[in-house]
Amino acid sequence: MSAAELGPTLLDAPTIAARLDALAGEITAFYEGKPLTVLAILNGSLVFAADLLRRIPLALRLECLGVASYHGGLASSGAVTFLQSGLPDVAGRHVLILDDILDTGCTLAAIRQRLLAEAAPLSVRVAVLLRKNKPRAQPLDADYVGFDLDDVFVVGYGLDHQGHYRNLPEVRMLDSKIRKPGNQE
Ligand code: IMP
Ligand code: MG
Repeated sequence: MSAAELGPTLLDAPTIAARLDALAGEITAFYEGKPLTVLAILNGSLVFAADLLRRIPLALRLECLGVASYHGGLASSGAVTFLQSGLPDVAGRHVLILDDILDTGCTLAAIRQRLLAEAAPLSVRVAVLLRKNKPRAQPLDADYVGFDLDDVFVVGYGLDHQGHYRNLPEVRMLDSKIRKPGNQE
């Protein structure tokens, strides 16, 4: 695992910051005066959530939910495991789920479905930093999207490859040699 794996920067820190300003403005306007709980999905949304929430001057509550949906490789497994048994108490509150990336949609669909079935929220919306341009395995779209992206594997700004690179301040591609399935090099 070395920096030799890293490919080009797709989104640098100033570009991300400018987009978060706009996104935070939209979210603030929509939830003004409403009881809002932000549900940050761990670990991928940590950096996005920290930067976005500090731009939203509302009396919101923050909860976190640990899920495992990606088991180390470059392709989503489709199976979603909740790492804690309970859900936060969001009865009578609007929920905004924050995640790093909308890929197959399996993770966010499973979380939204469980919240609606078990937690009696007033509403559930979804905000993601990144949305991959590809067909989804689940019929789910995000209400707030930072950036649309081709179907490439990216790291940084919270996103990892086998646990690494979450702390990069920018979003970068992995080196193309690593992204190709079946590559023998
Ligand atoms: P899903 O396929 O939409 O369920 O996405 C599941 C999770 O896969 C996301 O929350 C990310 O943690 C991870 N993921 C999907 N695409 C990428 C990527 O390009 N880089 C890093 N993680 C990714
Ligand atoms: Mg991940």
